[in-house]
Amino acid sequence: MFLKVENLKKSYKTGEIITTVLKGVEMDLDKGEIGVILGPSGSGKSTLLNIIGGIDRCDSGIVSVDNIEITKLNDTKLTDYRRENLGFIFQFYNLIPNLTVGENIEVVSNISISPLNPDEVLEAVGMIDKKHRFPRELSGGEQQRVSIARAIVKNPKLLLCDEPTGALDFSTSREILKLLQKINKDFGSTILMITHNTAISAMANKVYKVRSGEILESLVNKTTTPAERIEW
Ligand SMILES: Nc1ncnc2c1ncn2[C@@H]1O[C@H](COP(=O)(O)OP(=O)(O)OP(=O)(O)O)[C@@H](O)[C@H]1O
Ligand SMILES: [Mg+2]
Repeated sequence: MFLKVENLKKSYKTGEIITTVLKGVEMDLDKGEIGVILGPSGSGKSTLLNIIGGIDRCDSGIVSVDNIEITKLNDTKLTDYRRENLGFIFQFYNLIPNLTVGENIEVVSNISISPLNPDEVLEAVGMIDKKHRFPRELSGGEQQRVSIARAIVKNPKLLLCDEPTGALDFSTSREILKLLQKINKDFGSTILMITHNTAISAMANKVYKVRSGEILESLVNKTTTPAERIEW
């Protein structure tokens, strides 16, 4: 098992009030699989993804990625682990505004241990022609392509996506989903993606439905649907 989450619990304390966000989540993914986390707003999806990505800490439970128990790592080791092994894609791209497309990719490849070639990655996401542009000179879909390039240039073991199409229209969303499916196929990246959109689950090998911090249902798709055939 490549990704394993066992009995994961997390609460936030604000003043006297304790909010329990994750109540014993279990999930797993094999290497090279696409997993989708579905659930309503506030159900704990981002919290779960951020703990798997080592951005946040759990209260108890286990997350292991490729046989490393990341919930046991100290802060320094966790930061190293994240830098070397994980790629993140967010809803609002988070590109560095005063760097060009090419430079946004290079800041990551320069600090990576075994990066892919930045130009090849920009080619793969269809953005090589706009390498010298700044993020503000790009559409939302183009900015998301660049943020995907930035996430994959380090050749991550695990690609974590938090609503990657949440800010995009239907046809641009589908282009981004096609791209993620292509990356999964061409680079063998394991992908875990959060979405509100039930239709997207058709492209996943495994689907986890989250409600109020618990996995309500987990499904395995025997066959997955190509992104270009998904409609909503
Ligand atoms: N730092 C924090 N301190 C206190 N409460 C928090 C914190 N972060 C998240 N929460 C609470 O935890 C719950 C789950 O938040 P989370 O961001 O994981 O939801 P989500 O499923 O990603 O929602 P959305 O679909 O709106 O992004 C929410 O009720 C939220 O208010
Ligand atoms: Mg969220």
